[in-house]
Amino acid sequence: MTQSLVPKNERIRRTLDHLRHDTTDEFDAVRPFGPEEFTDPEIARAERDRVFGRVPSIVAHGGELPKPGDFMTLRTPRNQVIIVRQRDGSVKTFVNLCRHRGALLEDREKGRCRLFSCGYHRWSYDLDGSLRAITRDGTFGEIDRSEHGLIELPTEERHGFVWVVDDAGARIDVASWLGPEMDEILGGHGIEGHVCFRAEGFDEPVNWKIMQDAFLDGYHIQYAHPNTAAKHIHTNVMAVEDFGRHARFIAPRKTIDRFLEEPPAADEDLSKYVTETHFLLPNSTLLRQPDHFQLLTFRPHPSEPGRCRMEMRLIVPPVETSGLDEDRWNHLWEKNWKILIAVLHREDFPLLRGSQAGMASASAGGMLLGRNEVVNQIFHRELRRLTS
Ligand code: FES
Ligand SMILES: [Fe+2]
Repeated sequence: MTQSLVPKNERIRRTLDHLRHDTTDEFDAVRPFGPEEFTDPEIARAERDRVFGRVPSIVAHGGELPKPGDFMTLRTPRNQVIIVRQRDGSVKTFVNLCRHRGALLEDREKGRCRLFSCGYHRWSYDLDGSLRAITRDGTFGEIDRSEHGLIELPTEERHGFVWVVDDAGARIDVASWLGPEMDEILGGHGIEGHVCFRAEGFDEPVNWKIMQDAFLDGYHIQYAHPNTAAKHIHTNVMAVEDFGRHARFIAPRKTIDRFLEEPPAADEDLSKYVTETHFLLPNSTLLRQPDHFQLLTFRPHPSEPGRCRMEMRLIVPPVETSGLDEDRWNHLWEKNWKILIAVLHREDFPLLRGSQAGMASASAGGMLLGRNEVVNQIFHRELRRLTS
């Protein structure tokens, strides 16, 4: 079910009403779930194949690969991959595997190169994946080189992000995956004009959905983050837009309290009194702060249900347009990054590791998602749709 976009001020005013009445947007029902969703290897396999093998998910900000030949390697749920900027400016993704005898072609996490050269017998591949040279080819034997280029995964750069479908036989169309509402929303953010100040990955002993759930959750803030996030953000108050796959929600900052007694003027721009979050199915949370973005992605481990990799990116206006000199700009975002990292490591990760450990209990019993946990409900509803 889709709906047309509700103006931001209207959504913010809805959160003000919620604050006044101690309410929040609600889903239609409480949903029960079991621990096997986070521990069962068959469920994990179905998610890798039917979710990540079929739909686009974000793997990077385009600015992390500014020049032709810039590459990064990573482990997607179903492949080891190399993502590389092409000479024509586009981005391609290849399976990180030499087509001769299967050596890992590139072992560096990132870098810049003119070709990929295998360390085992030195075959080489062009940036576009084509097989360029076979060493000692007079003795190797005749082969059709065009058949032995690197295996390519569907990749598209859109709205500043690099998106990949984790299956060589799939197709990619990010705009249609996003749907008209989310495509329009992301298109309006100008993320391609921003830079990725910092990207870091964390391999955690936690199922990817437990992690993703924690970053769609406005209900835990005051309890899990009493001295950090809860000082700035209200708990359990959200205005949600459900686009039938992806979602967007607004959570009021505490600074909005000034309007509780005395409502804001009709034309007052209330943006700075809220944070706005986008949930991009299947595995990304994009937070829009008044002056920057934070992208969180959660990728399942290739085989173990109880493991995942979370990546965090701080996406900010470039120094040239920031009005700051380079030192100040670095200082500002470095400070911001350190606060984010501290909250993750001290507050979120210990809780979530404990949750995963608990899910392994043989007699764990059933659990519940409440009506107030709207975006979590949307996430699980959509995952069921993809995997069933
Ligand atoms: S495995 Fe790469 S050249 Fe032999
Ligand atoms: Fe949290």
